[in-house]
Amino acid sequence: MISIKRATDQDYKSIVSIGNIAVGEAHRESCSAKDMSEYLQVHYNDTAIREELDDANNIYHIIYFNSIPVGFSKIILHAGHPAIQQDNVTKLDRIYLLQQYQGHTLGFQLLNFNIKLSKENNQAGMWLYTWVGNKKAIGFYLKMGFTIIGEHQFKVSETCYNPNHHMFLTY
Ligand SMILES: CC(C)(COP(=O)(O)OP(=O)(O)OC[C@H]1O[C@@H](n2cnc3c(N)ncnc32)[C@H](O)[C@@H]1OP(=O)(O)O)[C@@H](O)C(=O)NCCC(=O)NCCS
Repeated sequence: MISIKRATDQDYKSIVSIGNIAVGEAHRESCSAKDMSEYLQVHYNDTAIREELDDANNIYHIIYFNSIPVGFSKIILHAGHPAIQQDNVTKLDRIYLLQQYQGHTLGFQLLNFNIKLSKENNQAGMWLYTWVGNKKAIGFYLKMGFTIIGEHQFKVSETCYNPNHHMFLTY
């Protein structure tokens, strides 16, 4: 049984614990263990995620499998991108599932849920950043209809930047 629910400020612990595992696993080849742990300490601690949830621009959802939280997503509506003409586009800022729940269409369902929500908010498309070495995610986004529109160096820590694709899906 799968369900997707809007995250409330009570849900910060689920996001912190899933994020610390899934973000680390997805990016561990992209820089040193020290850089990755620094990134997680800064962005996936209780205070940082509570602040994220307090900001009404950040739309977080949690996906549950048999009532267990196994992944989350974050979108921001009206998040313009310099290479995209329209202003009414959505940024998919985060989407992470625990490893044992990957490859069973949960990501597909969670992304489609967010695309539907974005369309209901009169958005013209969705864009995202993804590390160029994250082949699974890139394959997934290409399959979902995204195309690569640019690249930049994403700051992980003071000592590590990794190349990210910019991908865009027009509705
Ligand atoms: C990326 C992620 C969200 C995808 O979710 P998922 O549940 O694993 O993917 P799904 O099972 O829904 O796959 C959907 C489709 O994409 C396809 N796909 C997945 N990986 C692929 C790849 N490397 N190449 C081509 N297609 C791929 C699947 O085959 C599936 O299509 P199918 O139903 O026709 O087989 C999930 O794997 C994840 O959380 N990964 C770790 C965290 C991460 O990297 N997040 C993204 C950061 S930018």
